[in-house]
Amino acid sequence: MSDRVLITTDDLEQAVRVNAALEQAGFDTAMVSSLDDVRQAVRGKQPPPDAIILTGGLHESTARRLLAAAHEHGVPTLGLVEATDEAAETVAHELGLTDWLVKPADPAEVTATARRLIERRRLQQRTGILGESAPIQEVLVKIEQMAPVRSTVLIQGESGTGKELVARAIHDLSPRRGKAFIAVNCAALPETLLESELFGHEKGAFTGAAERRLGRFELANGGTIFLDEVGEMPAATQVKLLRVLEDRSFFRVGGTQPIQVDVRVTAASNKSLKEAVALGTFRDDLFYRLNVLSVYLPPLRERRSDIPLLVRTFITEFAKQHDRNFHGITPDAQQILVDADWPGNVRQLKNLIESMVVLAPEGEIRASDIPRDIRERTRILPMRIAPPSGAAREIAGQELEFIFRTLVELKMQLEDLRGRIQERPSERVEVIEVGGGSREQGAGSRSIPASVDPLDATPEPDHPVIYKPGMSMSDVERAAIDAALRETHGNRRKAAETLGIGERTLYRKLKEYAID
Ligand SMILES: Nc1ncnc2c1ncn2[C@@H]1O[C@H](COP(=O)(O)OP(=O)(O)OP(=O)(O)O)[C@@H](O)[C@H]1O
Ligand SMILES: [Mg+2]
Repeated sequence: MSDRVLITTDDLEQAVRVNAALEQAGFDTAMVSSLDDVRQAVRGKQPPPDAIILTGGLHESTARRLLAAAHEHGVPTLGLVEATDEAAETVAHELGLTDWLVKPADPAEVTATARRLIERRRLQQRTGILGESAPIQEVLVKIEQMAPVRSTVLIQGESGTGKELVARAIHDLSPRRGKAFIAVNCAALPETLLESELFGHEKGAFTGAAERRLGRFELANGGTIFLDEVGEMPAATQVKLLRVLEDRSFFRVGGTQPIQVDVRVTAASNKSLKEAVALGTFRDDLFYRLNVLSVYLPPLRERRSDIPLLVRTFITEFAKQHDRNFHGITPDAQQILVDADWPGNVRQLKNLIESMVVLAPEGEIRASDIPRDIRERTRILPMRIAPPSGAAREIAGQELEFIFRTLVELKMQLEDLRGRIQERPSERVEVIEVGGGSREQGAGSRSIPASVDPLDATPEPDHPVIYKPGMSMSDVERAAIDAALRETHGNRRKAAETLGIGERTLYRKLKEYAID
């Protein structure tokens, strides 16, 4: 069946020429006179078209609504932008067009672009990578370019942004697709186990090595290995990996014969590897070896226009999987999800949709079904109420948003910590130790009975500061200051030093907590 393309007739002359060229190229085309007709076509009963070409009227509000509907259904859009539009690219970007050409557009070029967009859509269906936003489209172009070669790929992005999905897509589109795709989480295993996991071991190489075991590199021969959380790899393993990347050979643990493999390496990290290099925890030579080709996946909050499509697709997927008769989501509930902050990115959104599809009583997601923490994490400084214009103001707005996000994240981490402490058995509590004595003992934390009052406790020789469920940060801080002063016999300079704060800060805090 031929691909179906809708062409709006706002610029009739362009529409007629483009229509003729597309028909001749074998597309099934339809010219639609009003944007409302197209919206009908996108949202109607029949399957949505494979692409929409907008020949004009891009600045009308109907165009924005049409583009939102197309996004929501994953239909690519090609806009023909007026030559008089300054910075056509910015206009196209703001409107959320998948691609754009300046008018008068060459019908052959329009046809080629439409074909490319439709192929990319197929690629999305095949790989499961959803999103019409510019960053996701760029990622897809990269995947297409990177798939056929053997070069190493480094995929970076926050947790849950789709790094593994992209690594699999690169493998599935590569000539290696028939061979193994082997994922190894470098953070999950201690150094010795990780090495034997990656490179295998010979019989008797270490206690417990009863048999020879092939490592993941050997198992991935002919295919692809995916080194997840590569930034967490211990230093000694980094050296070995560097050697494999240089000549594709290695030794099994306890082995003497070099093993040669043909493996494509893909790696991922949710922390900036460049920063890890700067901090000295990751080798720079290894970084450059891994970063031959690179993909960056932006956080979901930076591509909010993809959220409605993700929500829609996940609802359909989970309704089917859990055999639920589910209608969808109300507009206000969807808006909450679009505005939320998503620190866990697509994974968090996907998990939440699954739980709501299972639990929402009315067969549709309503605002009241969305957990309170998500509703509360809705950004407070949406673009809509950002200061009106001027680059400086925009930067100030972004900075405010960044500060706000950081505060929210800090708050969440604190809540998380409190939750985890409260989950512990009630008779035992966490001890945060300060002072040289306790550090020398090597243990990071110890437990003592919860009945001890953190503030009035008779100090042990090493003056522990005790955390008890319900204590606020200022309680903990106060207790730490008390302990440090006791340890230094009231010497405020030394106490400040022990606490790692300036003397003036200590004085301020003493005043604040009325400690004398
Ligand atoms: N663009 C996307 N379209 C559809 N699903 C996505 C997309 N991005 C991520 N997902 C889904 O979100 C979940 C998390 O993705 P994935 O495991 O690839 O993330 P990750 O970046 O590897 O996370 P982590 O750093 O925590 O390992 C998966 O279920 C994946 O299918
Ligand atoms: Mg992952």
